[in-house]
Amino acid sequence: MNATTGGPGLPQERRLVTEIPGPASVAALERKRAHVADGVGTVLPVFVTAAGGGVIVDADGNSLIDLGSGIAVTSVGNAAPAVTRRVHEQVDAFTHTCFMVTPYDGYVDVCAALTEVTPGDHAKKSALFNSGAEAVENAVKISRVATGRDAVGVFDHAYHGRTNLTMAMTAKNMPYKHGFGPFAGEVYRAPLSYPLRDGLTGEAAAARAIDVLDKQVGVDNLACVVIEPILGEGGFVVPARGFLSALADWCSAQGVVLVADEIQSGFCRTGDWFACDHEGVVPDLVTTAKGIAGGLPLAAVTGRAELMDSVHPGGLGGTYGGNPVACAAALGALEEMRAHDLAGRARVIGERMSAHLEKLRAERDVIADVRGRGAMMAIELCRPGTTEPDAARAAAVNNACHQAGVVTLTCGTWGNVFRFLPPLSIPDDLLDEAFGVVEKAFASTA
Ligand SMILES: Cc1ncc(COP(=O)(O)O)c(C=O)c1O
Repeated sequence: MNATTGGPGLPQERRLVTEIPGPASVAALERKRAHVADGVGTVLPVFVTAAGGGVIVDADGNSLIDLGSGIAVTSVGNAAPAVTRRVHEQVDAFTHTCFMVTPYDGYVDVCAALTEVTPGDHAKKSALFNSGAEAVENAVKISRVATGRDAVGVFDHAYHGRTNLTMAMTAKNMPYKHGFGPFAGEVYRAPLSYPLRDGLTGEAAAARAIDVLDKQVGVDNLACVVIEPILGEGGFVVPARGFLSALADWCSAQGVVLVADEIQSGFCRTGDWFACDHEGVVPDLVTTAKGIAGGLPLAAVTGRAELMDSVHPGGLGGTYGGNPVACAAALGALEEMRAHDLAGRARVIGERMSAHLEKLRAERDVIADVRGRGAMMAIELCRPGTTEPDAARAAAVNNACHQAGVVTLTCGTWGNVFRFLPPLSIPDDLLDEAFGVVEKAFASTA
């Protein structure tokens, strides 16, 4: 196998042959600085030549363990066989026609698959887009047409994207919103359930949020409530049990569209098809992207057929939405998920990660919380004995992991959450080795 062939055949090992970044990556970084806008940041500046299974190989020949999956995208593994096979077949046949001009089966096949795997067994339809933000925008468009109302309810710590409307829906200012306003109107923020910080039951936290939506926005104005069933960028917060179902019941009783943003949590990541499945919550609309297509850009809104069909013909779409190559990749990713029971694999990975993280918590009093579901786990770092965020420690540990050849990511409103999103194709021994590195990184930054 040569250095540019990725996929599961790559040697599954952590191998450092240079410092991180090595000379080839440093040279490439110089070119990046000359030609790429500075606003496009990079977490770990090694330039990639191949990836697969649980590793990423860089231009210097270093092999790093991947605990990020390109931010929850390559859940089926990088260059997964069914994805590359179907993509190759599709690019040889045709690369684009625009579904709005002349349609093709791949698009319809993806929509049919979404009907099957998303929560609920009611009549559903889907529309395909390019990015998560675009899916969220379209879920709002559909909700507004369906209800004849304008207002959008969102939550503290939410992240929904970087377009104008989704920036308004996103909570955190820096780096996502700062200087980019004015933002779209009619977006209202309610408090989330954040067990570490509010100590409320799911029901009590839901009552608090509903009070804001009811009294400060007014149900007669409210088109939809958009919620991440497990926060992504906002810190992997899992709302207390009962929060989501109470919110869903209230939305249903008030004729408010409940939109589950499963862009980060979807497609087997949490140990089920979707995070909503863990509590039996059935949203009216679901937005998906990231893990849907093994690394190719594809996103979707899936939901109740009568809501989806409320939009006039031609009202939904876009030049590239549901591109045939991206659809082929999605069908390949779904094939991988089913063939290898990746939801089951995510549960096993989750148990392994929890064991490592609970052990670490017992040893390190800076770890205030261990949370998440399946292969979507995180630890929140706070000054010992408090809930005061310790972002500096999170950054130091993150950097030490990178230097030792493990790709890790932080997140959270205060940047003090360390999150773990390994590809579901990662072998157990490599996962254990990565957590050995995380443990050493805590020791070396104490
Ligand atoms: C929950 C959630 N919604 C929306 C988005 C935006 O997706 P995209 O970056 O594809 O526009 C993200 C991306 O991180 C996300 O995690």
